Amino acid sequence: MEQLLQQVEAYKKEIAEFSADKNPAETFRIKYLGTKGLVKSVMAEMKNVPNEKKREFGQILNEFKIFAEKRYEELKQSTDNSQPATDNSIDLTLPGDALPLGSRHPISLVKNKIISIFQRLGFAVAEGPEIEDDWHNFTALNLPEDHPARDMQDTFYISHPASGGTDWMLRTHTSNVQVREMEKGKLPIRIICPGRVYRNETISARAHCFFHQVEGLYIAENVSFADLKQTLYFFVQEMFGQEVKVRFRPSYFPFTEPSAEMDISCLICGGEGCNICKHTGWVEILGCGMVHPNVLENCKIDSNKYSGFAFGMGIERIAMLKYQIKDLRLFSENDLRFLKQFTSAV
Ligand code: DAH
Repeated sequence: MEQLLQQVEAYKKEIAEFSADKNPAETFRIKYLGTKGLVKSVMAEMKNVPNEKKREFGQILNEFKIFAEKRYEELKQSTDNSQPATDNSIDLTLPGDALPLGSRHPISLVKNKIISIFQRLGFAVAEGPEIEDDWHNFTALNLPEDHPARDMQDTFYISHPASGGTDWMLRTHTSNVQVREMEKGKLPIRIICPGRVYRNETISARAHCFFHQVEGLYIAENVSFADLKQTLYFFVQEMFGQEVKVRFRPSYFPFTEPSAEMDISCLICGGEGCNICKHTGWVEILGCGMVHPNVLENCKIDSNKYSGFAFGMGIERIAMLKYQIKDLRLFSENDLRFLKQFTSAV
């Protein structure tokens, strides 16, 4: 029994001083706490202890076991926290792998900016179909069949045996959404309609067979041309800066009367005259006007009671001016070298 006590004391000393170069906790566990470990073999000595001593020795051996287990926990913790990097372990002090950040497409950036400016004026976003019928794309907008203004927009028609006689087409402008909103009959209306449009154009630096527009529509009682001008002036200043000037030129659209086109002072030369503005000092950015009474009536709105303004602009055009992009094709080619340049919001 004396010998057993001495052995326990010696092991305790050994355990307290235990160290190992590699995996000290695991080495310790195998040596002392495993099935063939020292603690187990010491505990097995209990069967040799005479009955009257069993209580006393039981306590001593139990304490020894707890002592070894505590030491194991200690070693485990210091391995977790401060184990220096070895060849096959992970160095937690190294910086992590950088996750490459994506960037929004410039068309989305500009579209979101346009939306947020008009939302501040109380405009809600409305959307409509890209495959449209003749009524919503043309006829309701005061372009009856055979109207020469239909030639202003080269239309992609869709013929399909299942079309049931409807003339389907890819919408040539987002103005179809204003018709759909007016037909809902809920007044007043204050919406902007962003979306993709299609035209049968030869692809070049200045034209594409699809592009994006934002349509605007405000219908209420007593809406005037002054409201239209002020709304668009606010938009331009928010979009391009306070120093930008605007001018309205008389124009023609079948769905508005009177109609106008709006120019802004050239952002490149500030109005002095340069290649971008073709030495005029002005660049055109949108079409607009007071909604034609025929359009209101086509959508079952009383044109004696209500009036409204509408406008439509190309998002690509705004983006080209904003970022000084010279070729429209860049927007649809998905060249990462181009797209990566637009990492922050406008
Ligand atoms: N829909 C016209 C186009 O695609 C743009 C436009 C002009 C829309 C005047 C309007 C407007 O609502 O009033 O060229």
